[in-house]
Amino acid sequence: MPFPYQRLRRLRQNEGFRRLVRETVLTPSDLILPLFAIGGTNVKNPIESMPGQYQLSPDNIVKTARQVVELGIPAVILFGIPDGKDATGSGAYATDGIVQQSVTLIKETLPDLLVITDVCLCEYTDHGHCGVVAGQTVDNDATLALLAKTAVSHARAGADMVAPSDMMDGRVAAIRNALDDDGFKHTPIMAYAAKYCSSYYGPFRSAVDSAPKFGDRRTYQMDPANSDEALREVALDIEEGADIIMVKPALAFLDIIRRVRETVDLPVAAYNVSGEYAMIKAADQLGWLDGRQVMLETLTAIKRAGADMILTYFALEAATILNG
Ligand code: PBG
Ligand code: ZN
Repeated sequence: MPFPYQRLRRLRQNEGFRRLVRETVLTPSDLILPLFAIGGTNVKNPIESMPGQYQLSPDNIVKTARQVVELGIPAVILFGIPDGKDATGSGAYATDGIVQQSVTLIKETLPDLLVITDVCLCEYTDHGHCGVVAGQTVDNDATLALLAKTAVSHARAGADMVAPSDMMDGRVAAIRNALDDDGFKHTPIMAYAAKYCSSYYGPFRSAVDSAPKFGDRRTYQMDPANSDEALREVALDIEEGADIIMVKPALAFLDIIRRVRETVDLPVAAYNVSGEYAMIKAADQLGWLDGRQVMLETLTAIKRAGADMILTYFALEAATILNG
């Protein structure tokens, strides 16, 4: 029935009505905090283009992880900044690597906190690519064994879940087989399935010094112009054994989150990436918008689009507000 019988403003007139009809409710349980692990003790290096984020030594990672638990956030995801880099990214799968050390320390101290590890080589290779390089190209098949080795070393250190972000073909199957062979058949894989070649990763790459030294990532990460292809990536990762499907970045790809949500029956994660965080922080610092409100609106939009969980540098800040 049309106006004046129907008036949609009736259910917007106060917070009680608005709460009753609210379709999307963000909670701390939806969030995963990314953390950057670096060697040493008592290290807390601010990341310039990501205000409020730091490179943390394992002791400080545990301190932050304790806050994560207190705020009711179920998980963190770890990235590593190794002491040295080489052609094959050996720091990624070193038994005493920085991620391996940090995982073990967190699990010893906070056994109920889920620790997810990012599985990739770009933070550990001297050329900055996500795989091993042959001439000017990234060698897909030669990379698979190293990714599998990395995932197994994370699981051995105590990781609850591994998250391959390299975008090599066949990596989910390679990791699944390696985990199963090593006795980790219950360790899930969160696959960065639809991962786009995005300029929104800029602040992250300066945080871990992982920008490619030659070329770019367009031969393995997805073209931002494509949407059907995301469904092919997702379908293959599921066939290969992925347990959770990720779309990355989030904000410029809300249509992809929605399409993936409507296509698959697995949990969907979205990565609210470094550049999305930096934009809000920068505008807030300039006084050009209300960063706190824009943060909540953004995270709600990502959930409304279809994400079951959100990897976000805002996790601590958002959970503090959501807990009242
Ligand atoms: C590593 C990786 C990247 C991000 C997560 N894992 C960078 C990249 O692919 O270049 C980006 C995260 C962010 O921007 O917050 N492959
Ligand atoms: Zn990478």
